[in-house]
Amino acid sequence: MAKINTIGILTSGGDAPGMNAAIRAVTRSAIYNGLKVFGIYRGYKGLVTDEIQEFKSQNVSNIIQMGGTILKTARCKEFKTAEGRAQAYENMKKHGIDALVVIGGDGSLTGARILAQEYDIPCIGLPGTIDNDLYGTDTTIGYDTALNTILDAVDKIRDTATSHERLFFVEVMGRDAGFLALNGAIAAGAEAAIIPEFSTEVDQLEQFINHGFKKSKSSSIVLVAESELTGGAMHYAERVKNEYPQYDVRVTILGHLQRGGRPTAHDRIIASRMGVASIQALLEGQRNVMIGIENDKIVYVPFAKAIKNDKPIDRELVNVLAELSI
Ligand code: ADP
Ligand code: F6P
Repeated sequence: MAKINTIGILTSGGDAPGMNAAIRAVTRSAIYNGLKVFGIYRGYKGLVTDEIQEFKSQNVSNIIQMGGTILKTARCKEFKTAEGRAQAYENMKKHGIDALVVIGGDGSLTGARILAQEYDIPCIGLPGTIDNDLYGTDTTIGYDTALNTILDAVDKIRDTATSHERLFFVEVMGRDAGFLALNGAIAAGAEAAIIPEFSTEVDQLEQFINHGFKKSKSSSIVLVAESELTGGAMHYAERVKNEYPQYDVRVTILGHLQRGGRPTAHDRIIASRMGVASIQALLEGQRNVMIGIENDKIVYVPFAKAIKNDKPIDRELVNVLAELSI
């Protein structure tokens, strides 16, 4: 196995709070272990267009508390083509980069997996996404901060919902995964969560109306995960207007504010641990794995496993929400 001397680091796909803490950890841990580090700007785009700069320890000073990513992020169509990846490889060779750490979601890790297969380059992924939809890790970088942002917003919506005795549908992000909606609903004391995982199983609106709202509540908050499968918050508001015209309905779509803000302590800590673990993994000869955390321990998850499997929703969470929303 060839010795690794120089690594590249990039952030790709949707940004997530805690990505900067991860960049800092990867950079500092690499330098601590005698490696040279290059920061690659704008995700795979910068790898293709050669926006690559050497990083010293000071390049990552004062960023642990910042949301977003100092490396910027992008979505890059060229990298999905063989020609684009060939160009990316040329640029890596030019700078002597012999391993890559990719911080991003499902799509970004798919890109890393393909590059690693084609060019025999060790790639390590860090799960950076607010969606928490990567298999093999209990949590992803950015998820906890996004949950707390949802909590702050829903607490405020509750004031007006209660005063006006209204039914609010609050749409949260998640790209076809219901973790933010379900755990957000539990944490905010919402009455229900409508999530894509169950959209073919039951009529979640019917269930909610019959379960609690109709009987005892004059105001209510339902978190709806964005997804084509759920149809989003607007879809449910329209349904209520048609099927239950007695309720006064409003919709709030939280949107991209869920992606911003200072990372929570939890996200900073997991980003730091995962960043250090990524360098450790490379030095141990690991390749093409995502760093995960399971039961508070670092684990290595092969890309194929992390990307291909749908992360299951724990039914216990569904029961907790149902029991507490009577
Ligand atoms: P996320 O990482 O947040 O899931 P995307 O799905 O948008 O975000 O993916 C980010 C980038 O990863 C894409 O713009 C592309 O450059 C790269 N990528 C995604 N899928 C592939 C693929 N099948 N092959 C090569 N690169 C990919
Ligand atoms: O994957 C993170 C995420 O914020 C999803 O929750 C959402 O569906 C998507 O990215 C939105 O992406 P964009 O940056 O294109 O608005």
